[in-house]
Amino acid sequence: MSRATTPPRERRHLLGLEGMSREEILAILDAAECCRARLRAGGMPFDDLRGVTVLLAFFEDSTRTRVSFELAARHLGATVATLTTAGSSISKGESLFDTVQNIGAMGVDLVVVRHSASGAPAFLARQLDVGVINAGDGRHEHPTQGLLDLMTLRDAWKNRFAGRRLALVGDVAHSRVARSAIFGLTALGASVTVAGPATLIPAGLERLGCAVAPTVEEAMEGADAVMALRLQKERMDGGLLPSLGEFSKVWGLTVERVRLLARDAVVLHPGPMNRGVEVMPEVADGERSVILDQVENGVALRCAVLERCAEAARRAPPAPVAGAGLGAPGGTGAAHAKETV
Ligand code: CP
Repeated sequence: MSRATTPPRERRHLLGLEGMSREEILAILDAAECCRARLRAGGMPFDDLRGVTVLLAFFEDSTRTRVSFELAARHLGATVATLTTAGSSISKGESLFDTVQNIGAMGVDLVVVRHSASGAPAFLARQLDVGVINAGDGRHEHPTQGLLDLMTLRDAWKNRFAGRRLALVGDVAHSRVARSAIFGLTALGASVTVAGPATLIPAGLERLGCAVAPTVEEAMEGADAVMALRLQKERMDGGLLPSLGEFSKVWGLTVERVRLLARDAVVLHPGPMNRGVEVMPEVADGERSVILDQVENGVALRCAVLERCAEAARRAPPAPVAGAGLGAPGGTGAAHAKETV
């Protein structure tokens, strides 16, 4: 996979970790660590994003991502608006494009978007002259989750990724978290072994640079970390699992299985967690669990991403205006061309 530094204008977007260079990822992690130190020291709100307007456009449910983006934006002094499907004109049939274009006309600088359609954030980035941050799109990517997972692993692994290995267990097929983790970790020189029911492991996954183990025990044996993935029932057509009980018995993270890991290995879960299904409670709350560290890191990481995108958006020259319309100040370029996602 070719990896290149993102051109400055494109840095106002964060659409995925696929193809992102090691240097860029490490720069974001370094910035996130600075943000974490500032947040821990207190004194919010800061002035970094004073005058920047951030729209949180969540067309799928979220707890961690939405709240942490909102906290991050407010900690940095941004103006924040939130849009969800319920209570907006989307419920009357307005399209994603029309909805966000109208919001763009209100002078938004950054849009943080979660959508069930893979490619929805990339679609908006092409159509609107604002920075777009992917907060999870379908089965595609969840880049800020991937980066906060890297931040958490960097702490656990004492800043060394080379030679380390993560076991990713469960519903890989429907997991945007898994894809971002694989892209991020392989860029940094770590390796990934996935394991899960055959119906939930996509064919050709090895092409992304990871290994596939036939059992959870083989994936976890000697691994430096394990991440259980949520069963994405909302994306399953049915018939993929005999029962939750059987999944839990064969693939769940138990105390016995965690003992197979390397001595200082840690346990992650992106949330929301099905306790007793993907992870047993004594593992989720056990001494190796860094699940709440992931959540704390999520706020700092999102501060760093908002700053990076806002800075690039500030420097980006306005897109050429393609005729009159509903464009944001500076124009929306080819905003009226219709595309589907
Ligand atoms: N990890 C994650 O995306 O959680 P939420 O769905 O609660 O945002």
